[in-house]
Amino acid sequence: METEMKIAVLGTGMVGQTIAVRLSSLGHDVHMGTRDPAETAGRREPGPWGQPSFADWLEAHPEITLESFEAAAHHGEIVLNCTAGGKSLEALRAAGADKLAGKVIVDIANPLDSSRGMPPVLSVSNTDSLGEQIQRAFPAARVVKTLNTMNCNIMVDPSRIPGVHHVFLSGNDAEAKRQVRALLESFGWQHIIDLGDITTARGPEQVLPLWIRLWGVLGNADFNFAVVHG
Ligand SMILES: NC(=O)c1ccc[n+]([C@@H]2O[C@H](COP(=O)([O-])OP(=O)(O)OC[C@H]3O[C@@H](n4cnc5c(N)ncnc54)[C@H](OP(=O)(O)O)[C@@H]3O)[C@@H](O)[C@H]2O)c1
Repeated sequence: METEMKIAVLGTGMVGQTIAVRLSSLGHDVHMGTRDPAETAGRREPGPWGQPSFADWLEAHPEITLESFEAAAHHGEIVLNCTAGGKSLEALRAAGADKLAGKVIVDIANPLDSSRGMPPVLSVSNTDSLGEQIQRAFPAARVVKTLNTMNCNIMVDPSRIPGVHHVFLSGNDAEAKRQVRALLESFGWQHIIDLGDITTARGPEQVLPLWIRLWGVLGNADFNFAVVHG
């Protein structure tokens, strides 16, 4: 992005952490949102993939402010949704429709449902998407779906993958997509495909079953989709 901004990162998992650190390193003022800041700050168990505990991570990143979803959304001129997809509407409701009104919501979440075991299934698909659900629930916000089709380390550093590979954009508001495109470019993205309005989020969300199977076959998450056309 052109200038340093106040940014809300809603979500404390590996995506929220990775995105928050990257945005902060680019000079942005990042506030991270969670349900219960005191409880979250006290989490001492290692992350799901053996990463440091959240408490250790937060101590290592004093530049990032942890607060409630609502306080973080109030701070942010732009809001990134990095919450569990099945709970994103709940998290955004906690952030508050009034705090989100007029703002760009960058929706990175995937509506994965693991309640019936692995691999997870999509809790919304085909004729709807999480991106559309969020846009309908918060009509005064401008939702842009992006970055959900790759691992978070690639989101913030596409040069991890050699050659040409792609990230998608979906959203109804051209100016919001311009801002998100600039954010992606600041992360290093060169190949960005604007799919169209928010209904086009269905496609990028529905590649997740393929992404999950590729992860199993390839043995790690260092891969991305490339669109080759004539
Ligand atoms: N992992 C990746 O590389 C990757 C790649 C692409 C897309 N994604 C998507 O990015 C999102 C974040 O993934 P992640 O692995 O970092 O974290 P995650 O475990 O999927 O989500 C953690 C976040 O969800 C919030 N949350 C959980 N239950 C909630 C509830 N009932 N109400 C409100 N908030 C709730 C948690 O809040 P607390 O902070 O209060 O615990 C936490 O902030 C997911 O939608 C995922 O599908 C992940």
